[in-house]
Amino acid sequence: MKRLIGPFKEIITMSEAPLKGALAEDALGLISKGGILIEDDLIVKVGAFSDLKNEANSIDRIKGDHVLMAGLIDSHTHICFGGSRAGDYAQRVAGKTYQEILKNGGGIHDSVSKTRAASEEDLTDLVKARSKRHLEEGVTTIEVKSGYGLSVAEELKMLHAIQSANEKVPADLISTCLAAHVCPKEFDNHETYLEHIATKLFPELKTKNLTNRIDIFTEDGAFDPILSAKYLTQAKADGFDLTVHADQFTPGGTAVAISAGAVSADHLEAISDADIALLAASETVATVLPGASLGLGMHYSPARKLLDAGCCLAIATDWNPGSAPMGDLLIQTALIGSAEKLSISECIASITFRAAKALNLSDRGRIKLGQLADLIAFPVSDHREIFYQQGKIKPNKIWKRGVQVVG
Ligand code: NIG
Ligand code: FE
Repeated sequence: MKRLIGPFKEIITMSEAPLKGALAEDALGLISKGGILIEDDLIVKVGAFSDLKNEANSIDRIKGDHVLMAGLIDSHTHICFGGSRAGDYAQRVAGKTYQEILKNGGGIHDSVSKTRAASEEDLTDLVKARSKRHLEEGVTTIEVKSGYGLSVAEELKMLHAIQSANEKVPADLISTCLAAHVCPKEFDNHETYLEHIATKLFPELKTKNLTNRIDIFTEDGAFDPILSAKYLTQAKADGFDLTVHADQFTPGGTAVAISAGAVSADHLEAISDADIALLAASETVATVLPGASLGLGMHYSPARKLLDAGCCLAIATDWNPGSAPMGDLLIQTALIGSAEKLSISECIASITFRAAKALNLSDRGRIKLGQLADLIAFPVSDHREIFYQQGKIKPNKIWKRGVQVVG
């Protein structure tokens, strides 16, 4: 049964846009007065609405002007956490740095205490509520990290909570194990902790099918590049996809991510020109996190330079209780886009099919034959309005795998 949805004033297809490098406006692949034909959860055809009418078994008529695009993909979040870090915020605006707070035993450690104190059911409810909010803002695929458990049992609790939430919300939640976030207070040796995780937790992740992705925070005060490389090599050998928190404050992580064959290197506020060139020559996606820059009052990562060098750029929220509590992907993309002079097509690519690549997914992020029918429609008549309005206009109709979930 083929369902035709439309007409839409404009459809942003991005159907032929390349995975890497700068994009001009023609990459949007705009169709005006368009319609989209879907069958079950997949897109089967896109074109002029009037041409598709004959092929449809039913029509979902859209009233009023709308612009349609693929569902948004947030490829980096930490939305499984207990408690708040409003206290860190107050300390930072009074002059303490993020890293000082962490070194003094607060920061991530504070969220670890609060997350350990929460039950698996509490965490499931928190992830569900945050995913629901994200979906209502157009985010149909959400990566979610563990990393506030920092023991085998507590990391498993977090990943079970993410798995349960995934079964209860329409959005797809893609989990990642970030047991290597920082060294927990119970261990005084970073290397021993990482070996403990690799030997005791990795096999559980596989047998319980909890995640196929491993992340590490490579940074002063977290894990150094040498230990990170060893951990990632082990994870790769065990068959996991890799991603790295790289170059947030000091360089080093990007080179580790590339040589380990990571699917993405994320943050990049402190990336060097040499590492930008290495990233551009690699298959590793460069993921920038404007929400963390906003939260910490830091400069944005060099998104323009990354694209001009030829990188595949993704933008994600980093939604977390410490550095990035806002979690609004559209607003953050509009803000970094304006500051870094990103074209509209570069902004859209970085939160759709390029973000999908950061999750090793190629079945979503574009509007074309065979892609998942994850779709969002904005109540505007011109695609330029979306970022011009700085992300405040949200989609008012959302379909996840062909099922209308909003509007
Ligand atoms: O990506 N930088 C490391 N991890 C997170 C923040 C986590 C936290 O502060 O709770 C990030 O910014
Ligand atoms: Fe992060």
